[in-house]
Amino acid sequence: MRKITKIYADCALYLNFARFLSIMIYHQQESLRSQLDSLTQKKRSIGFVPTMGALHKGHLSLVEKALEENGVVVVSIFVNPTQFDNASDLKKYPRTLEADAKLLQTLKGTILIYAPDVEDLYGNQVVSKSYNFGGLEHAMEGKYRSGHFDGVGTVLNLLFRVIRPTRAYFGEKDFQQLQIVRRLVEIEKLPVSIVGCSILRESHGLAMSSRNQRLTKLQFEKADLIYHTLKKVQKLFPKKSIAQLQQIAEEAFRESPHLELEYFEIANIQNLKTAQRKRKGNEYRAFVAAYAGEIRLIDNMELPKI
Ligand code: PAF
Repeated sequence: MRKITKIYADCALYLNFARFLSIMIYHQQESLRSQLDSLTQKKRSIGFVPTMGALHKGHLSLVEKALEENGVVVVSIFVNPTQFDNASDLKKYPRTLEADAKLLQTLKGTILIYAPDVEDLYGNQVVSKSYNFGGLEHAMEGKYRSGHFDGVGTVLNLLFRVIRPTRAYFGEKDFQQLQIVRRLVEIEKLPVSIVGCSILRESHGLAMSSRNQRLTKLQFEKADLIYHTLKKVQKLFPKKSIAQLQQIAEEAFRESPHLELEYFEIANIQNLKTAQRKRKGNEYRAFVAAYAGEIRLIDNMELPKI
């Protein structure tokens, strides 16, 4: 395999000539745009998978789905500063472009990587737009990560305008983000279909996440508590009240010295409002955010219909 020695700014880098895979890295939107324009002259649809890099199998499953459904796929790799409310979290976020490109190279199909620097995407105004997502932004993650969804909305709006995708793919691990993105494309009147994809899990149940790379072996092992608690709640949901389920989940975390619960919530999937009691016809999901040391993990699971 050809060794990647340098990633050139503003030019396409073919990573593996031998296998004729068309993986290219673009650092500038102009060159990405001109390549996309020439590819889509042949009326190929564009699938888009936005990421912050440190790719894992969960991301790859989104890219695979995008490749199945589109002629060309763009994967953006950009650690977006405006969605972090914690400078140390931003600094420590893994940046592994070469490894990411190698991983994407294992897939078949036309993939373009867009890995801009902050200026290429934001110009000299690295600020968030202020969005009203109809209240979705105030629930759960919104309560604990101030300005987070304004940052996510801002960067996705910029990326959608550069890439002009036919379809964009998001994992359900960030379910709140997925619902907010659906609202964002309505607000910004963007002609893109948003496709939600199921959560991929490690063999012991932990949801795949770029942050898992930062867990120690012990933290990784013990983090399966999140999955098992969600599974328990899912099983008990038809029989127990919301208050009882809340208690069961909180107790499970209280007993663990390895994880600190930030929130457990059962929420209506449409408006993400915390459910006080179950109502027939509504659909619910259970959501968790917890810390393993200083690593923040989130997960969620659908609950049976009532
Ligand atoms: O889910 C993520 O990785 C990020 O929030 C996204 C959608 C790439 C925007 O920066």
